[in-house]
Parts: sequence; C-alpha cells; structure tokens
Amino acid sequence: MEIRQVGVVGCGLMGSGIAQVAAMGGFPTVVREVTPELLGKGMSIIEKSLTKFAEKGTITADQRAQTLGRLRPTTELADFAECDLVIEAIIENLGHKREVYAELDKIVKPDAIFASNTSSLSITEMMTATERAPHFLGMHFFNPVPLMTLVEVVKTVVTDPATVEIALEYARKIGKTPILTSDRAGFIVNRLLVPYLLDAVRALEEGFGTIEDIDNGMKLGCNHPMGPFTLLDFVGLDTTYYIAEILFTEYRETRFAPPPLMKRMVVAGMYGRKSGKGFYDYADPKNPKPNKLLEG
Ligand SMILES: NC(=O)c1ccc[n+]([C@@H]2O[C@H](COP(=O)([O-])OP(=O)(O)OC[C@H]3O[C@@H](n4cnc5c(N)ncnc54)[C@H](O)[C@@H]3O)[C@@H](O)[C@H]2O)c1
Repeated sequence: MEIRQVGVVGCGLMGSGIAQVAAMGGFPTVVREVTPELLGKGMSIIEKSLTKFAEKGTITADQRAQTLGRLRPTTELADFAECDLVIEAIIENLGHKREVYAELDKIVKPDAIFASNTSSLSITEMMTATERAPHFLGMHFFNPVPLMTLVEVVKTVVTDPATVEIALEYARKIGKTPILTSDRAGFIVNRLLVPYLLDAVRALEEGFGTIEDIDNGMKLGCNHPMGPFTLLDFVGLDTTYYIAEILFTEYRETRFAPPPLMKRMVVAGMYGRKSGKGFYDYADPKNPKPNKLLEG
C-alpha cells in the first residue's frame, strides 16, 4: 500500500502543522474542522507559516502556492473516503476521539491507516472504536510541527508490521525523523522529559537553588537550549500536570507524581507563558522575571 492522499482531522495548533507538512511533502491533503470559522482560522495559521518560509527563502513563492493548492479544507468527514492515511489531531479527549474514529471507520476505505497524534491517551483504547486494529497506530508530532523534526511512531500489540513500515516511510517522506515505540503512557519523549521537569520543581521546593540558578544549571552545564522552568512555562504547567497524572496512573511510581507546588500553581491559574505567569512573570514578555513562589 502506498500513501497517495492524506487526511487530517482537526486544524488547531497541531492539525494545521500536520496538514501543512503533508502538503509541503507533496501529498494532496484533506483537512477537517468542525465549523467554517475554525477551518478559516486553521488555514490562516498555515498561510502565515508558509509566508514566513517563503520570506526566509526556505521555499519559493511557487512552492508556497503549490502547497496551498494541495490542501483541501472541509467540514465534512465524508471527504476522507479516499484517503490512504488519516491523522487525527483533535482535542485530547478519549470520548471525542473514539466518536470520530467510529464515524471515520465507516467512511474511509478499509485498508487505509488511522494515526492519532495524541500526547497522552492510549492508542489501543482509540483503536477499539474501529474495525481496523492492524491499520491503527500513533504518530506523535512535536510543536511547532513545521520546524520540529521528530515523529514518534507508536505501535500497539496488534499493529501490522507493514503498517508501521508505511508510517515510518511517510514520516521520512515529509522530512521528519521517526523513532519507533509502543503504546505506553508518555511514549519515549514524555516518559523521560516529564519526570525531569517534575524533579526540577522538587529541587526548587527542597531549596537546591533559585528558579534562575536551576535554569542556568541545566542550560550552561548541560547545553540544554532552555532550563526546566523556562520549558515548563513554555509547555504550560496545566498540560504538564495533566500528562504527569496520566503517567502516574499508568506506572504508579512516585517520580511521575506532580509535586504540590505545581498543583497549587495550576489551581491558582499560573499556567506559564499563556496565562502571563508561571515560574516567571511575563508582564514584559521579552524580559521575564522569576516569581517569588516559596518565600515568606
Ligand atoms: N499542543 C501540543 O504541543 C501538542 C503536541 C503533540 C501532540 N498534541 C496532541 O495533538 C492533539 C491536538 O492538540 P492541539 O494542541 O492542536 O489542540 P487545539 O485545541 O489547538 O486543536 C484541536 C482542534 O480540534 C478541533 N476539533 C475538535 N473536534 C473535532 C472533530 N470532530 N473534527 C475536526 N476537528 C475537531 C477543535 O475545533 C480544535 O480546533 C491532541 O491530541 C494533543 O494531545 C499536542
């Protein structure tokens, strides 16, 4: 089986990027949102990103136009009937995702591959909403999709090895580097990254250093592009908290448990950059100042 046409369900932050890289890779791509307004919003994210690439000279004005020409925005799932690969990137809710898969399963040709971009839900639990277990897997892209080169390809205990090969090959064709893992919470990257971030919060709670010193420690001592607190503010404390709870539920190991300080910050609405306050204060976004969280 060869991938000729791609479908992307959801045109939010991730779906727009996944549709963009499919079209940039030369694939005719159908992309679906629930309303024309949301579809318009998603398409304008793609247009802006392509404009930036064209301004930087990464692509030509012609390539920009051709990429847009390969995209077919729609609000109808029926338009996915002839897709060979459908990548789902809707909100992180198992019930919603299962509903979409059950509906797609009736519409899309039976040998087409379904791939979920979920960060934390079980691929196997989504798969059981369909009759195509051998053709179901995870393809976990990273944000921002047009710039980040990694894709985690996630197989279940019943994914056909040929399906895995096709997904790996597709990722390479769109210029990404795939890594292969299996369906366990966190896959590879979050399984390693989340306990590290949680441990940084514990180190702060235990008085190992200030927010800035711990960040500088990892930045300058380990050559990380940013320290753990800058990264937590960037990803969102609410998102990290949610993923940590899922990892803790799956593995029942204390290293995955969100520390009390993080929980209090999430409850107080200190989500990081997006809410203007997290480990740093973003009143002046170009010059974030560490918050006083543990004093007094
Ligand atoms: N944000 C990240 O950094 C990141 C990284 C990797 C993976 N993910 C995963 O990607 C998925 C999407 O996340 P996001 O950040 O793009 O969220 P988002 O909220 O930006 O986008 C989700 C979009 O899905 C749309 N949607 C909901 N139901 C739909 C349906 N039935 N059909 C079509 N569209 C539908 C919503 O209208 C929304 O625009 C989630 O599973 C998330 O876990 C997110």
